[in-house]
Amino acid sequence: MSGSVSPREGAPRRADLLIVGAAQLLTAPATPGGAPLRGSALDQPLVLSDAAVACVGGKVAAVGPTAELTAAFPERLAARVIDARGLLVTPGLIDAHTHLPFAGTREMEFDARARGASYESISAKGGGIESSRRTLRAMGEDELVERVAGRLRVLLAQGVTTVEAKSGYGLSWAEEGKQLRALGRAAAGSPVEVVPTFLGAHAVPEEFRSRREEYLALLTEEMIPAVRAEGLAHFCDVWCDKGLYTVEESRRLLEAGKRHGLAPKLHADELGDVGAAALAAEVGAVSADHLLFSSESGLRAMADAGVVAVLLPGTAFTLGLPYAPARRMIEMGLPVAVATDWNPGSTMSSSLPLAMTMAITQMKMTPAEAWMAVTVNAAAAVGKNARIGRIQPGYQADLVLFEGGDYRHVPYHYGHDHVRLVVVRGAVVHEAGAGSRCT
Ligand code: NIG
Ligand code: FE
Repeated sequence: MSGSVSPREGAPRRADLLIVGAAQLLTAPATPGGAPLRGSALDQPLVLSDAAVACVGGKVAAVGPTAELTAAFPERLAARVIDARGLLVTPGLIDAHTHLPFAGTREMEFDARARGASYESISAKGGGIESSRRTLRAMGEDELVERVAGRLRVLLAQGVTTVEAKSGYGLSWAEEGKQLRALGRAAAGSPVEVVPTFLGAHAVPEEFRSRREEYLALLTEEMIPAVRAEGLAHFCDVWCDKGLYTVEESRRLLEAGKRHGLAPKLHADELGDVGAAALAAEVGAVSADHLLFSSESGLRAMADAGVVAVLLPGTAFTLGLPYAPARRMIEMGLPVAVATDWNPGSTMSSSLPLAMTMAITQMKMTPAEAWMAVTVNAAAAVGKNARIGRIQPGYQADLVLFEGGDYRHVPYHYGHDHVRLVVVRGAVVHEAGAGSRCT
């Protein structure tokens, strides 16, 4: 595989940041409108060797072979030059599904599951989301901001430059609003771009179990309009699953979200097939996530409607559930993304590289597919594929330099921190020392 995007001809130009001599550079090939990759295209990224990138005004100005690129953007004119010899350059990673603004952790449930309890039985006894709700209530907004800020630092150090983050541990306007405001405040102080999602329908709160209809009314008539009025989220998500929200309820909630400018997303068929995948297609969801038990026809409907399938192998890994059928999905033409699902219950993992390894070893995706799933296709899962997710002229200059020098090395050598440097909007925002090479 080879190819290049040529810099513009003409007089030598000044780059704000010039990265030269990369052992390898990986990005998606150009597609009309930055569309996500499907089918065999997912396994055909653009891989350049001895590569360079020029950044100007926070955007990628040019990418290509070092000799060609430095002819147009000479090193002597650049404000900063980074020697990337021996390193791999990729687009900034995009974690398209997390529950980041949580308060407390739930290691006691991890212990209980190790002794045979199931996720659902723990929830039925007042653990699960209700447990996270209690710890959230006990934490003030300022402390929550600090927690989220710390998590954003953790993500950035792993090469994540954009993260989707859901509320859903409040289940009342006071607490959901607190989660979303805390997200916004933490995001304001971080180079990581946060894409906020309202997930007030993460569970039916305990006190509303015998009067669901009242909680649905609260969501559609008070919370969703309030989210919109304060501009606190881009997406509205619902957990449509066995024992959670039904297809009919989810439809009502997502349609209400749409009326208030919130694009739909779904937690779909994670615990059983309830027809959530077909609903995602019907409502024109941007993504449907989990999909462990979705029917063939539901997945086909998603493929036809262009809904991104966000796969979360860490959840199946943690809960001992079957993995989503990634190969079948790719063959069906679904645009597949991979994310962490970082949350204190089902997936206490912040590592997108580890999720890539699981996607490869457990779901049988190729390393190339896994990279496209956490960059270009993840950008589509958060509706930002026209701006981020690629190293392509005009795209935001979010880049990661990894040790190892080969894109396959990162997920292959799992559990090791390979990140050397992270660039957001053309500026270096994280720099690790020369790591311990153990190849
Ligand atoms: O994505 N599926 C819904 N929510 C989380 C779990 C939430 C929790 O247990 O705290 C998930 O797996
Ligand atoms: Fe989730």
